[in-house]
Amino acid sequence: MSDSPVANQTVSISLGERSYPIRIGTRLFDQADTYAHIGSSAQAVVVTNTTVGPLYAARLQAALQLRHRQVQVVTLPDGEAFKTWESLNHLFDAVLAAECDRKTVFYALGGGVVGDMTGFAAACYMRGVPFVQVPTTLLAQVDSSVGGKTAINHPLGKNMIGAFYQPQLVVCDLDTLQTLPPRELSAGLAEVIKYGPIADMTFLSWIEANLDTLLERDPQALAYAVRRSCEIKAWVVGQDERETGLRAILNFGHTFGHAIEAGLGYGEWLHGEAVGCGMVMAAHLSAEMGLVPSTFVERLTALVRASGLPVTAPMLDPQDNAGRYLALMRVDKKAEAGAIRFIVVDGLGNACLRAADDLVVRRVIERCSLVQQKA
Ligand code: NAD
Ligand code: GLY
Repeated sequence: MSDSPVANQTVSISLGERSYPIRIGTRLFDQADTYAHIGSSAQAVVVTNTTVGPLYAARLQAALQLRHRQVQVVTLPDGEAFKTWESLNHLFDAVLAAECDRKTVFYALGGGVVGDMTGFAAACYMRGVPFVQVPTTLLAQVDSSVGGKTAINHPLGKNMIGAFYQPQLVVCDLDTLQTLPPRELSAGLAEVIKYGPIADMTFLSWIEANLDTLLERDPQALAYAVRRSCEIKAWVVGQDERETGLRAILNFGHTFGHAIEAGLGYGEWLHGEAVGCGMVMAAHLSAEMGLVPSTFVERLTALVRASGLPVTAPMLDPQDNAGRYLALMRVDKKAEAGAIRFIVVDGLGNACLRAADDLVVRRVIERCSLVQQKA
């Protein structure tokens, strides 16, 4: 690990009047100055969960008490299973009971689940109150806290009820990543790796060269990984906030990945694990389309595996595995008139959306499942 202090940095997300800074560094989240940009309304609410709350909520609350007269902490149950209306109602009950007004600032302290729910609650409460993202997982720091997608799940579909609603500030404190379970760190790396093939192959080479240091949680390495990821995400979202086109490239690996998550049952594989394997499958598909050589597929597979992520497509149905994947992928948000569309890459740092023939997709699924039998 390097001993030199991490210089705090800011990445800006440019969306006109909805623009905001992403602050990245150490010793950030519990410093009142970090939030100077937010103004000092009377009330603030810190939304967290039963895992992150005991670790960090009191420190955030103490810092915010220097800016807001009343800082309430609302603690929700931990887990994707609780990204629901019930959790939102619990939050609304608490803020209404505390007579929070429309200037109340909501602070999301936690991973993507807390961030997505708090953002959606902020979009709805009194038709919209300001909110701040304080992401504490790698996945949330490099992806979910940035860009304004907020949602809860519905029993019939993940993230189906939501809104585009931008935070006013994102605070990525790398110190919080030191308490993250190793499996969650690897899941976050999947979303970091994603930015290479879709936008910046130099970044992919940097990740390969620095993977061990990232897995050791070296603050300098983490700072660069978070910064470069946020820069790329800001560049994409700045051009296509509501995903009318370009923003779809952020879903590289996600079409296969969502099928894995849904087919195994949510929670069996982490989102980042499914995305890691999904990127390997999407690389195979890109090769089938003649867009990348097999050496690219091998390179990406080796990196995903070395990051601690699965690279073998799990069995979703022993009778007709590929058929089950296809059925699940037909309900993907990118599907159009029954045709499944995938983000494919060219090996040079560019990505695009393409429909693929079912027979080709079947071949990819079979090949990616076979690796398991050989291993
Ligand atoms: P998560 O929020 O469930 O967090 C993972 C686990 O780590 C949880 O148990 C959490 O309590 C714990 N945790 C969080 N920070 C910790 C810390 N510092 N130390 C110890 N434990 C900690 O999962 P996630 O991977 O952060 O986010 C996944 C969610 O993000 C999904 O619901 C997904 O749909 C959503 N997502 C949203 C977007 C978007 O653009 N809005 C993008 C990607 C993913
Ligand atoms: N994580 C995909 C997006 O923000 O668009």
